[in-house]
Amino acid sequence: MAGYRTLDGVDVAGKRVLLRADLNVPLRDGRITDLTRLERLSPTVVELADKGAKVIVLSHFDRPKGKVVASMSLRPVAEALGEVLGRKVGFAADCIGPVAVSTVAAMADGDILVLENTRFHAGEEANDPAFAAEIAALSDIFVNDAFSAAHRAHATTEGIARLLPSYAGRLMQAELDALNAALGTPKRPVGAIVGGSKVSTKLDLLTNLISKVDLLVIGGAMANTFLAAQGAELGKSLQETALHQTARDIMAAASSHGCTILLPVDFVVSETFAPNPPTQVVSAQSVPANAMALDVGPATTGAIIAAVQGLKTLIWNGPLGAFETPPFDAATMRLAAAVAKATDGGMISVGGGGDTVAALKQAGIIDQMTYVSSAGGAFLEWMEGKALPGVAALSI
Ligand code: 3PG
Repeated sequence: MAGYRTLDGVDVAGKRVLLRADLNVPLRDGRITDLTRLERLSPTVVELADKGAKVIVLSHFDRPKGKVVASMSLRPVAEALGEVLGRKVGFAADCIGPVAVSTVAAMADGDILVLENTRFHAGEEANDPAFAAEIAALSDIFVNDAFSAAHRAHATTEGIARLLPSYAGRLMQAELDALNAALGTPKRPVGAIVGGSKVSTKLDLLTNLISKVDLLVIGGAMANTFLAAQGAELGKSLQETALHQTARDIMAAASSHGCTILLPVDFVVSETFAPNPPTQVVSAQSVPANAMALDVGPATTGAIIAAVQGLKTLIWNGPLGAFETPPFDAATMRLAAAVAKATDGGMISVGGGGDTVAALKQAGIIDQMTYVSSAGGAFLEWMEGKALPGVAALSI
């Protein structure tokens, strides 16, 4: 990864600083259900404000598609940010135009302001230079702390960085450093655990990983496709028959790269997918015709844990089984505990992706991993080896 500009040594006192954040927090019935993104943003906001900057936070929220959608206003999120920071946070009802200009003009050094949802304007997703220039005119410096939106080449993630002196915020810096330690220049042996249901959505990811890691553990329903491609009987289990040849190609390519692929040897199966149904443990080669694999079995979990114990670096994306539905969380929870223990013993462990964070939370090990990314799509694209436009725009 190329180097990127950080806030170290940057004099922000008295300056107007546009801080691109990711305030796209989960909201249910008007209430924010997870404050993680706001908590992780806080150090950058506090650092800038305490150094005397006028901190102008901008972000998208949800997908209003270039129109004003009242339920997608950032106003309640700005209030929540104020509560997380324990500081007054102002709000401007538009991110451009007279409202934005006059509210920014009234700011004092150390003030914090949130601008309304950038995606209320079509120019944001179109990366319209005129829109980017209008926002850039509000400030002197651009700081991007939205790694989780860095896979989007939008006006406020990419365009503005070309118009102003621009730097990575502390959260962006933490993400990039952790991810670089996991896949850029990892301590070897390095392994990856990839789960989830479909090979088709993770083809690029698998193809990139087999050239980078020494060990690839494949779990979730995705493993079924690999096993079926080798002739296993999978019963009613989810699998993608059209991808058998692709799965065989990935396995052949892995072996030419010296990457060992670990597939399940046993499954916990059931005839119904519901909480706590009757289950049995069967060989991964012969799932009964009327049953489906819903979790990897104890022998597989034991083998994965033994393999993880030999790693110096681990990257984890995707649960091993249908972890939201008990008892099919068992393997993922057992593995999570082992990963926490190995991390305590010195292994570098990095996790990310929506389902993975939920699973790690359920296991209660978020704080015991070396780093858990707050990004979803951006984390996946980074794991696929793709250049992220928002990061590229900050590179030296
Ligand atoms: C996310 O939540 O992953 C980011 O905020 C990006 O959101 P988007 O997928 O709507 O661009």
